[in-house]
Amino acid sequence: MLVEGPVEVELADGSTAFSDRSVVALCTCRRTRRPPWCDTSHRAHRLPPEPRFTPPTAGEDG
Ligand code: FES
Repeated sequence: MLVEGPVEVELADGSTAFSDRSVVALCTCRRTRRPPWCDTSHRAHRLPPEPRFTPPTAGEDG
């Protein structure tokens, strides 16, 4: 989730995180190693693509 900065975020433990960037990405997947900011860890946890349909070969029923 992109947010216009500067921004200060209050974390669950009561601490705050501040960014003075003009745009910052907040993590919404909870996989980041530097909360609350997105560190692109979400990219490594995508599900593999669905297997593609394989048409039957000649000689198979159907
Ligand atoms: S949205 Fe969680 S790491 Fe990017």
